[in-house]
Amino acid sequence: MSHIAYVNGYYVPIGMAAVHVEDRGFQFADSIYEVCAVVDGELVDETLHFERLVRSLAAIEIPSPVTKPVLGLIYRETLRRNRVRNGLVYCQITRGQARRDHAFPSPSPVPTIVVTAKRVDPAKLERIRTTGVPAVTLPDERWARCSIKSTGLLPNVLAKQTAKNQGAYEAWLYDEQGMITEGTSTNAWIVSSDGILTTRHLDESILGGVTRGVFLALAADAGISCDERPFSVEEARQAREAFSTASTVGATPIVSLDGVTIADGKPGPITNDLNQRYRLHHKIGA
Ligand code: PDD
Repeated sequence: MSHIAYVNGYYVPIGMAAVHVEDRGFQFADSIYEVCAVVDGELVDETLHFERLVRSLAAIEIPSPVTKPVLGLIYRETLRRNRVRNGLVYCQITRGQARRDHAFPSPSPVPTIVVTAKRVDPAKLERIRTTGVPAVTLPDERWARCSIKSTGLLPNVLAKQTAKNQGAYEAWLYDEQGMITEGTSTNAWIVSSDGILTTRHLDESILGGVTRGVFLALAADAGISCDERPFSVEEARQAREAFSTASTVGATPIVSLDGVTIADGKPGPITNDLNQRYRLHHKIGA
């Protein structure tokens, strides 16, 4: 947990950090967020995360309350005050506080900005990357604009809890055609039964993960071609490899899906190779 939170210009002990009860983030999830990993004190893909933050804000017409250099300073100060060198920094921006009314308030309120930081044990992440994890599939019950990194995450929360109740680490969500969209908090990938690296193309049904983009570039550099297309639950179960990507961990190997063992039940060679390239690219563990 964060000990110190940044809230609208102030660094506040977490127990005293607060936003207004009529904040639209609280009342309507009228807000967006970003999560950036921190490795050995360095922010991972800071620019890409900032660019997506700006895109999310623009998509819901919240004027950006920070520039990249200012947010960078806030991130670093929040990390310093919380003594986080390995973990993540979380940033949430809401439309601000106003009398409860669904439509945008006029005049526009000042956006609320909150930044927190927490430690994540790198050894735990390494264990996950080494052993892999089980996942389940569940229907995608989210809205039609998943490219926006909105804090309206109730369907994701419920699906993740269902996965946890079933002893799984992640739920891969499938659309009405039975095609996987993404995980509750990760992008979904397979190496198909004919050996092709595959992940869903970018559209409104998934979040354009920063890690997804970096993995695609690393795969291209390595001469591994990738098919960006929908794949079915059945195809995933019969895949040679499966993995999930997110900034916090890189690639998490998925070793079983709905209780069906993927290949030999171990992280696959392409997953391991891309994870290794990701670590080298970000000088993780160098
Ligand atoms: N989740 N898809 C969803 C629905 C996500 O919530 C995330 C990230 C991703 C991966 O995006 P990226 O590679 O940019 O981290 C894909 C963050 C980590 C979270 O909600 O905590």
